[in-house]
Amino acid sequence: MLFRQADSQVVVQTPAKLNLFLEVLGKRRDGYHDLQTVMVTVDLFDTLTFREEDSSQIGLRLGNAGQWQGAAEVARDVPADANNLVVRAARLLQATAGTGRGVAIRLDKRIPSASGLAGGSSDAAATLVALNRLWQLHRTPEELHELAARLGSDVPFFLTPNGAALCRGRGELVEPIQARCQLHFVIVRPHTGLSTAHVFGHCRPSANPRAGHDLADRLRHGQVRALARGMHNALQAPASRLNPDVRQLETIFHNLPVLGHQMTGSGTAYFGLCANRRQARHVAGRLRHRRLGQVFVARSQFRCSSEKEDGLGNQ
Ligand code: C5P
Repeated sequence: MLFRQADSQVVVQTPAKLNLFLEVLGKRRDGYHDLQTVMVTVDLFDTLTFREEDSSQIGLRLGNAGQWQGAAEVARDVPADANNLVVRAARLLQATAGTGRGVAIRLDKRIPSASGLAGGSSDAAATLVALNRLWQLHRTPEELHELAARLGSDVPFFLTPNGAALCRGRGELVEPIQARCQLHFVIVRPHTGLSTAHVFGHCRPSANPRAGHDLADRLRHGQVRALARGMHNALQAPASRLNPDVRQLETIFHNLPVLGHQMTGSGTAYFGLCANRRQARHVAGRLRHRRLGQVFVARSQFRCSSEKEDGLGNQ
């Protein structure tokens, strides 16, 4: 999350995330699934602008993000009413803090919805942090974490400053990881999306669950090739059964020069982990040529100055 504050306005750039590892451990009584996942934030951003209102109203307007290719496709799927997680986050904070202060929010979307990139969750987390500042509520990080978990399983992850974490429970128990490498990705969001609940509804907990610690360690030690070999997403099999676009991307990435590839979260976005920025751009060019959907080149938001730029030094 990148903040800029001036007078009565706060501007936040909210990152997307990728799941480098996701294992489903079991179904819970509350309908959720216990899981272990390793997530990293990447530099694909939505932009949120908060301006304090004289009334106690919470208003949301979608900005005209029409400057870039694909903006119309992204904006089409985003609710501008009380169903938007941004409005739900603002209302939850307003109600629990008992404040009568209001806000006008502008949301410029760039992160596609229903894609496993968690744009809505990232926006919700940013809303909690921004309004805590703007309204001067002095909620503690623990209080914000508790509200975030109420809004969605992925929301607490975006409150961690590291940009990388091993998450457990239904995803809300966040253990930050100090990553030691820069990761480069190419991401494709096909023309169709998937609902998280639908994909979880079709997954079966693994009989021999894998743990996320190994992958977290590889991230900690900057072992990018080993990390690529250890990538895993238990939701990919059900998602590819439900959605032919995911199946197609599996096949296409199999023949591309990437270190590793898989779906993120519950899909449908699919990513390749690349050796460096140049490789990511090259692969993106090939994918754009095929008109499979929106294609992004992105990098992880953590950086370690003591490592080589592509993080491939210590395998
Ligand atoms: O927590 P969130 O609102 O993002 O979850 C959306 C839906 O995804 C849940 O209602 C549930 O059906 C499913 N889910 C799950 N187990 C998780 C996270 C989400 O079954 N750990």
